[in-house]
Amino acid sequence: MDAEVRVERLSKTYYPKQRKGLFKSERREVQALREVSLEIRRGEIFGLLGPNGAGKTTLIKCLTTLLLPTSGDAWLHGYHIVEQENLVRAAVGCMLMGERGLYWKLTGRENLIFFGALYHLPPKDRRRRAEEILGLLHLQDLADRTVETYSSGQKMMLAFGKALVNDAPVLILDEPTNTLDVPSARELRAHVRELNASGKTVVYTTHIMAEAETLCERVAIIDHGQVIDLGTVDELKRSLQRDHVTHIEGIIPERASQAVAALPQVTKLATSVANGTTRLTVVSSDGRAALPRLIEALTAHGALIQNIAPEEITLEDVFVAKTGRSLTEDTRVR
Ligand SMILES: Nc1ncnc2c1ncn2[C@@H]1O[C@H](COP(=O)(O)OP(=O)(O)O)[C@@H](O)[C@H]1O
Ligand SMILES: [Mg+2]
Repeated sequence: MDAEVRVERLSKTYYPKQRKGLFKSERREVQALREVSLEIRRGEIFGLLGPNGAGKTTLIKCLTTLLLPTSGDAWLHGYHIVEQENLVRAAVGCMLMGERGLYWKLTGRENLIFFGALYHLPPKDRRRRAEEILGLLHLQDLADRTVETYSSGQKMMLAFGKALVNDAPVLILDEPTNTLDVPSARELRAHVRELNASGKTVVYTTHIMAEAETLCERVAIIDHGQVIDLGTVDELKRSLQRDHVTHIEGIIPERASQAVAALPQVTKLATSVANGTTRLTVVSSDGRAALPRLIEALTAHGALIQNIAPEEITLEDVFVAKTGRSLTEDTRVR
């Protein structure tokens, strides 16, 4: 079996305690996961993409044995998350809560050694592993400073290092770039790619679609505790039967734009002329397939194309098309 993580109809309901006020307090349950099923293949970078409150962290916590699911099953590296929790813990390195998972009064090196002890590494292996991670993440210069003196980006990088301590086959990262600036986030993703290339299966949650798009092979889009779509980034985009818009600029004779309008894929065509340059806005049923046809029709009829810009579909568009909401919208139940 190639599934490194298998989730079957996993549900989690929270029963938060309500503060007793002047009014009779009602018990409001939160269904954070609703029968989630998915498979994560060995060796892939799998993305869990969804807005705040979608249930990503809840799923991660169940998979890493920090939370008991209300119902359903899941296996990680072949081990059942409830019945074999110790084996699951040994098979997964996890970055959750970011910098809040570190001891701020300890140095970076001490943190890594401490977590090595929690993973039952023998003392000399703890030190060796700590040095390896400090080297890998270029944290040597900070190694002997207490974490409280680190910048937030440095803390996040060390928290990432903590997930590597037990050198587990599965790496689960919960919004690891959340508080990072752009270059540090890029550096962290580069490390993730390297670790993946060295054989680790990576589960990566994010609410930033561009991040899922650049990093992940397959993505599950999660909303209100449910998987609403799952596939490769390209599959998800293709599943979106949406009109494509292509902008073309150049010296375009009338007969060329008529040829474009006559193409079977073209559903709408708008033309405007400014300073001798014609601008065509072409709406087509399939952007990728239509593009070569557009170019062919134009050049065959004497057009000189100066600029052609297909409008790319993004994962954000997929999410919007399925839910009518944007990914940045907060859907937490309050
Ligand atoms: N300990 C908790 N008690 C009650 N509700 C919770 C708790 N943790 C999370 N939730 C709720 O469960 C839903 C999913 O949250 P979470 O898994 O943190 O989503 P995400 O990580 O995608 O932002 C949200 O509505 C959130 O408010
Ligand atoms: Mg979360």
